[in-house]
Amino acid sequence: KVVVLDFGAQYGQLIARRVRDLGVYSEIMPCDASADEISAAHPAALILSGGPASVYAEDAPSVDPAIFDMGLPILGFCYGHQIMAATLGGEVAHSEVGEYGAAKIMRDGESVLFGDTPAEQTVWMSHRDAVSRVPEGFTVTSHTDVCPVASMECAERKLFSTQFHPEVKHTEHGNELLRTFLFDVCGFEGTWTMDNIIEQKVSEIREQVGDARVILGLSGGVDSSVVAALCAKAIGKQLTCVFVNHGLLRKNEPEEVEEVFTKQFDVDFVHVHAEERYAELLAGVTDPEAKRKIIGTQFWKEFFAVAQELDGVQYLAQGTIYPDIIESGARKTGGKASTIKSHHNLIPFPEGVHFDLIEPLDHFFKDEVRALGTALGLPDHIVHRQPFPGPGLAIRIIGDVTPEKLEILKNADAIVREELDAYNQRLFEETGERNSEHSCWQYFAVLPDIKSVGVMGDERTYQRPIILRAVESSDAMTADWAKLPYDVLARVSGRIVAEVPGVNRVAYDITSKPPATIEWE
Ligand code: XMP
Repeated sequence: KVVVLDFGAQYGQLIARRVRDLGVYSEIMPCDASADEISAAHPAALILSGGPASVYAEDAPSVDPAIFDMGLPILGFCYGHQIMAATLGGEVAHSEVGEYGAAKIMRDGESVLFGDTPAEQTVWMSHRDAVSRVPEGFTVTSHTDVCPVASMECAERKLFSTQFHPEVKHTEHGNELLRTFLFDVCGFEGTWTMDNIIEQKVSEIREQVGDARVILGLSGGVDSSVVAALCAKAIGKQLTCVFVNHGLLRKNEPEEVEEVFTKQFDVDFVHVHAEERYAELLAGVTDPEAKRKIIGTQFWKEFFAVAQELDGVQYLAQGTIYPDIIESGARKTGGKASTIKSHHNLIPFPEGVHFDLIEPLDHFFKDEVRALGTALGLPDHIVHRQPFPGPGLAIRIIGDVTPEKLEILKNADAIVREELDAYNQRLFEETGERNSEHSCWQYFAVLPDIKSVGVMGDERTYQRPIILRAVESSDAMTADWAKLPYDVLARVSGRIVAEVPGVNRVAYDITSKPPATIEWE
């Protein structure tokens, strides 16, 4: 495997994914990991990522100089390039002019890393500091008009670095440089493919579990569904999937989940009908956080009630994925701890109850989880499901949740999904990308706690509005309201007022995040 040392701002994640796309397993470690800690992970090569800091800054991240004596091939990008130069006795200088965006490099002399790529190439740059003198034993392999050392290497020690970012799409030959490093220099074979991964995970799960029982809380979301499918393949009926139906899922969703995991995958499937208990608990509750709390607490109650009735359950399988692990590490990256997300580790086991955890996806990125799901035969509506909050429709009904409001929202939401699924599908067919520039990342209906006057036929109506929310995003941290074509908006609005009794008006939320959030509660 390759270990990517991350110098912050999640530069490492993109590199790790590029390496994996080439069929080589890679893991991310914080840049301040010691050479001993790194050796313990048994890498066959290292990549030093870029980062937001300047090597001169007071608390600038550095590396353990001993990593350069481990005999491993090392490739550094941007900050990684500068830190390699600075650590090995070269020099890094502030320059008057930075380079941001596309730049043209001119190759200098022979280079193992560049192989037979062209003498001039377009690369992606983002830097002000630059290497001004290379360490002993290194040669300069390219430059730009303003950057004398756009790349350097010491082929003998298998050390290579570039000021530009080969991991970014805009670097014309970036992928070829990565390939040369991984396959020619390091001797990887590119065998980390979905089929091999499934085979390996299946045998790991079998070995870990033996003939014990495993329980899993299935939500219908991508991660828990993929874990379920993987465990189903590995241990079949030794897996019990507990599907707690809180009655707050979208229209037809409970039936779809049940169908997949009873017909297609042969697991022990327990459908907990908790709709009425949830309805009672939520009656009259209007505060969003109170709703969330009730729903979360009740989930574990329902789940453990089933778990404790089953004999011999030793393991709890969970859909923790790699970003959860990376983010919960509170790692030092450029002096800043990244966001801490710890919910995955906080399972409120009841007194006297404990299960060991199995987290087979804990080293996979979201798009790899989806690819695994597809390779395991999960249907598209699960694998490409849009994000959906755990508390479900309860936080899309402003004010208290009643059966009447739930019915209205489910029906309106079904229309929103039908129309915008079709819109996204058209964009996918045109662009070949699932999340292309204009596609909607998340889209749903919201039911506010007001009524307004309308007219239908000759009758005055006093009914509810539906708010359409549709955003473009990639990670939910920021989001832009989707600039949907008018004909799509017209169809959504026309269908909702015509098909959903009790609704006489549709409004479109045209606020981005920030300052708004994606959800209304
Ligand atoms: P906001 O509304 O904060 O949402 O912009 C960001 C993303 O998180 C989802 N979300 C939740 N997911 N439990 C969840 O599992 C929650 O309580 C919750 N609240 C928001 C939201 O759908 C969006 O994708």
